[in-house]
Amino acid sequence: MYNTIFTSLEDGILTITINRPDKLNALNKDVIDELGKAIAEVYTNREIRAAIITGAGPKSFVAGADISEFLELNGEGGKALAQKGHDLVFNKIENSPKPIVAAINGFALGGGCELAMACHFRLAADHAKFGQPEVNLGLIPGYGGTQRLTQLVGKGKAIELMMTGAMIDANTALQLGLVNHVTAPEDLLPKTREIMKTILGKAPIAIAKVIELTNIAAKSDPTGLQKEVDAFGLLFETEDAKEGAKAFLEKRKPEFKGN
Ligand code: COA
Repeated sequence: MYNTIFTSLEDGILTITINRPDKLNALNKDVIDELGKAIAEVYTNREIRAAIITGAGPKSFVAGADISEFLELNGEGGKALAQKGHDLVFNKIENSPKPIVAAINGFALGGGCELAMACHFRLAADHAKFGQPEVNLGLIPGYGGTQRLTQLVGKGKAIELMMTGAMIDANTALQLGLVNHVTAPEDLLPKTREIMKTILGKAPIAIAKVIELTNIAAKSDPTGLQKEVDAFGLLFETEDAKEGAKAFLEKRKPEFKGN
């Protein structure tokens, strides 16, 4: 069925597990396509009443977009990558009328943090780590991070995290309001399912309206996500972005020149 994710349906809850543990579950083209299909199924399949997104293996939820796919991208390609992710996966998750929650079992970096933030809320294992390290690559978040991190933790903390690329631990994420609960790793999925079951005891139309209206309340400017897509594309035209991706793959520090 799927090659890069697996899904299981239990008690009306679809668990979607991103499954590239040898690459820390990085989001390549195939993962985005398959996540898109799984989320579309959440919308259309009447047996699915909610979903949980998590990562395979003990180490990582998702360590970002797959940097090896960045090397060949120009401005147009970078923009198309971000646009497709927004349209197929991230905005679909955020606007899903059925609850979708992230169970963060390790690194949630870059696109991984953004995937978690597109979900309606988040739980994390106590060893999870969060960050938006795109500046290390000469880039910015391209899957909604500039908007959703600011909505969740406020401008001051969000801008520091995005400018430094720093990683924070699960308890700091809890203090910031980036995650709602921190658990022992073995309790992460049971606790997430327990909360989902509580929600599934409520009236589905009421839950859908809570999601819709909270999303409206959180957005200061509905064009913000589209402006992010445009800026992400522009950055792929820079020499620094090429240097950033090359340096990561060559396992060395990048040398940015400001062009
Ligand atoms: N894209 C592509 N490959 C990635 C990746 C990503 N975002 N994140 C990790 N990987 C790969 C590594 O290249 C490595 O592959 P290899 O074994 O073929 O060399 C493998 O996953 C394991 O990662 P590694 O870096 O060896 O693990 P670590 O424990 O030393 O470090 C991280 C973990 C998360 C700190 C480090 O992998 C990292 O910084 N990843 C990139 C995070 C990032 O910048 N994300 C934003 C992208 S926009």
